[in-house]
Amino acid sequence: AQGHFTFDPGFMATAACESKITFIDGDKGVLLHRGYPIDQLAEKADYLEVCYLLLHGELPNAEQKDEFDKLVRNHTMLHDQVQRFYNGFRRDAHPMAVMCGVVGALSAFYHDGLDVENPKHREITAIRLVAKIPTIAAWSYKYTIGQPFMYPRNDLSYAENFLYMMFATPADVDYKVNPVLAKAMDRIFTLHADHEQNASTSTVRMAGSTGANPYACIAAGIAALWGPAHGGANEAVLKMLDEIGSVENVAEFMEKVKRKEVKLMGFGHRVYKNFDPRAKVMKQTCDEVLAALGINDPQLALAMELEKIALSDEYFIKRNLYPNVDFYSGIILKAIGIPTAMFTVIFALARTVGWISHWLEMHSAPYKIARPRQLYTGATQRDFVKVDQR
Ligand code: SDX
Repeated sequence: AQGHFTFDPGFMATAACESKITFIDGDKGVLLHRGYPIDQLAEKADYLEVCYLLLHGELPNAEQKDEFDKLVRNHTMLHDQVQRFYNGFRRDAHPMAVMCGVVGALSAFYHDGLDVENPKHREITAIRLVAKIPTIAAWSYKYTIGQPFMYPRNDLSYAENFLYMMFATPADVDYKVNPVLAKAMDRIFTLHADHEQNASTSTVRMAGSTGANPYACIAAGIAALWGPAHGGANEAVLKMLDEIGSVENVAEFMEKVKRKEVKLMGFGHRVYKNFDPRAKVMKQTCDEVLAALGINDPQLALAMELEKIALSDEYFIKRNLYPNVDFYSGIILKAIGIPTAMFTVIFALARTVGWISHWLEMHSAPYKIARPRQLYTGATQRDFVKVDQR
């Protein structure tokens, strides 16, 4: 490119990886998990069914579904000593920092004797991570608010258990999880479960290709997801709506976006140049949850005004900028009572099954260490110059 080297276009073709897990058509706004459209899964399946689908390639029959639910429930607990890791963090630590630390530390508890080359060991690791990540996530919140950790219960569904561990306290002897909130939480988990070779999934595959232990690989994925351009966007959308304040300020804000002083968070995507199909389901869920809870959230009205203006404005149309999965999720999470700092943690919780499914897929066939090359644009070769001659 700089006249020194010829750039081999064929190189890029080798940079992509093969996968059977998720298919995205960015131009048509299509997202399939093992061939099933995301809107059908979000409406008709529960999150653990989607986990089974991503992990095994097929939807479970009734017996397999029951067996898988039981298996996950039996692995939701954490080794008691894991709690001590939380104590090493400041109380005001961002929960994503806690997630990175604690998940990485699981290598010290569940990795000994784990043979990454043994398919059975890999399968139980996947179950452990899917089962334990809600406990780790809920405890990362409890720690920051100084409340005692709540232990998972085997009589609750996956989403109910997470909300129970988040919001119940030992004093709530007959705590009941609101079924509307549990259903919305379960659907949000499904909408975030996997998304092809996004930055964090590619990070997990890259780490996994070195033979690193799966807990360290998932911790690397959590770190990559944290950025505001990726999983941190849902938190950034709420901050953006707070900054705009009211519908009257939208026009001025949009001018700042066009001057490239700010990004319209929750909009745009590396792959979707059409509607993100998850955003449509998320918006429908948003309407359902707020109506069921009788919440009239002005931020929803503000978000809808932003969307309306953006979808009719040449600047956004020309750049194929549409709402993505993060645009409405924050409003639902807020309605469920989730604090903003936990939004990306929930994304990481839900995406863990996608990450570990890709890790399993990579290990299911011979693989080589990932080693991307570069387009070198630095100095050509030259001889060393002594310091008194420089
Ligand atoms: C996720 O990869 C995945 O699959 C990710 C994800 C998953 O499930 O794993 O889908 C989850 O990360 C969703 C994205 C969440 N991030 C945000 O909502 C943050 C805001 N979005 C932007 O940061 C941005 O849209 C990206 C990072 C998502 C994509 O950036 P790109 O690749 O630069 O977008 P592009 O090439 O399509 O941009 C084209 C033009 C550029 O302007 P010009 O140089 O042509 O003038 O659109 C502009 C961009 O600057 N643009 C935006 C914008 N996104 C792109 N302008 C204003 N606001 C935005 N949000």
